Parts: sequence; C-alpha cells; structure tokens
Amino acid sequence: MKKALFALTALALLASTAQARTWDEIKKAGTIKIGTEGAFPPFNVLTGKVLSGFEVDLANALAAQLGLKVEWVTAPFDGLLIGLQQNRYDFVIASHGITPERLKAVDFTNPHYCTGGAVVSKVGGPKTAADLKGKIVAVQVGTTYLTNVQKLAGVKTLVYPKDTDAQTALMTGRAAAWVGDKFTGLDLIKAQKGLQQGDLLFKEQIAMAVKKGNTSLTKELNAALAKAENNGTYAKISNKYFGQDIRCK
Ligand code: ARG
Repeated sequence: MKKALFALTALALLASTAQARTWDEIKKAGTIKIGTEGAFPPFNVLTGKVLSGFEVDLANALAAQLGLKVEWVTAPFDGLLIGLQQNRYDFVIASHGITPERLKAVDFTNPHYCTGGAVVSKVGGPKTAADLKGKIVAVQVGTTYLTNVQKLAGVKTLVYPKDTDAQTALMTGRAAAWVGDKFTGLDLIKAQKGLQQGDLLFKEQIAMAVKKGNTSLTKELNAALAKAENNGTYAKISNKYFGQDIRCK
C-alpha cells in the first residue's frame, strides 16, 4: 500500500507528456473509454465477458446521455489510476473514495454515491474499532479500508489484490474480520450464514476519476450525472442494485 501511494504521488509530480483526450476529441471520436476493475460486486462485476453492476449501468447511462458509445477496459484495482495517467482510458469508475492523497494524482467528478467502510465478522466476532485490537483484518490492497484499518493501533492486516479474496479470508477463518464497503457487506451477510455487520469505521464519497487537468471531460460527466439524478435514471439504477437511493444527500 505504501508503495502504491508513493507510486501515485510520484506520478502526480511527474509532468505528463501525453495529453488526455479532451471532451471535444472524445465527442468527435464518438466512443468513450472507461476503466473499471470488474471484481467489486455489486458495483462493478465481470462475469465471463459481461460487465455489470451499479457503476457499469450508471456509466453506460451517462455515456448514452452524452451521445457516446462505450469501450470498457478492466484492470486490477491498484493499477487503475496509474492506467488513467497513461491514457489507457478517459476516466475510471471503480468506487474510488475521494481522498487528499488521490487528489494529488487525479481529478474527481462530483460523487456518484456516498458510503463507508464497515466491519464484517462471524457472529460473536469483532464489531467495533476497539474490538479489532489484537485481531487479523482482511482488506483489499490500495483501498481506503486498508489505510483506515492501518490507523488503528494493534490491528494486523492481511492484504489481498481482490476484495472478494479478502472476504474469503474471513470465511475460511484466516482473518477475524473483513473491512469493506458497507453495501458490499450487506450483500455478504445476506449470502453467507453466520456473518454479522459491525460498525461503520469511516464515511467516504465515491466519485469517477479523470486525468488531472482534463476539466472539459469532468464538466461533461458532472452535467450528465446531474441530469441522471434529476430525470429518474439514477434512482432506477440505484434501486435495482440496492433497493434504495445511494446518492450523497
Ligand atoms: N471505496 C474504497 C476505496 O476508495 C474501495 C474501492 C474498491 N474498488 C474496487 N473496484 N475494488 O479505496
């Protein structure tokens, strides 16, 4: 994680030679390239060759509103913002929380949902930040879950490339708890018997990441998001996946 943060900060300091595609260039091309992970249910999931999830549906809807076709690109979560620096796609939608550290490297749109990091454990296991002391906690690499759990004294982390593998570590008993998204956690305790959701450790605003300085694209994405929030599109997609509206209030 430290290494990943250094890499990101180093990238932020480097003057980028290649330019990201501006809104006019994307519009002219007619296709927008979007980066995601595809392993973070129910937000972005790759099943065979099919991408689905709240963020996939939302981004497809935003692109449709902007009159664009979509080309999806998947990459491991901790490589997504680096790929953005390298212009592999025009923006990233992969449940990135807006953090001061990430803001050094990329720009963010307005948030497309609000959430937080919550504890999940086996019934009888740790539920609060205090309970986690002396315990092993499974988390995904490069995430705000890792940075926030690392702030707790006396907690050992087991770090996995994929969030679903961190969940497995809890189920198989290698970790006493998993810390992850609160909505993912709700799905997890529904799907697996004997699990409980504990406290919310922190809150975060989730947004799409755009290459630093690509203000024309950020502006269009913000306008498309506002329109989707106002015309019922957002509510429909949110209800489909969560049975509630998860926009920031
Ligand atoms: N919200 C957390 C963060 O900002 C986790 C995001 C994980 N996303 C993913 N596609 N695996 O770091």
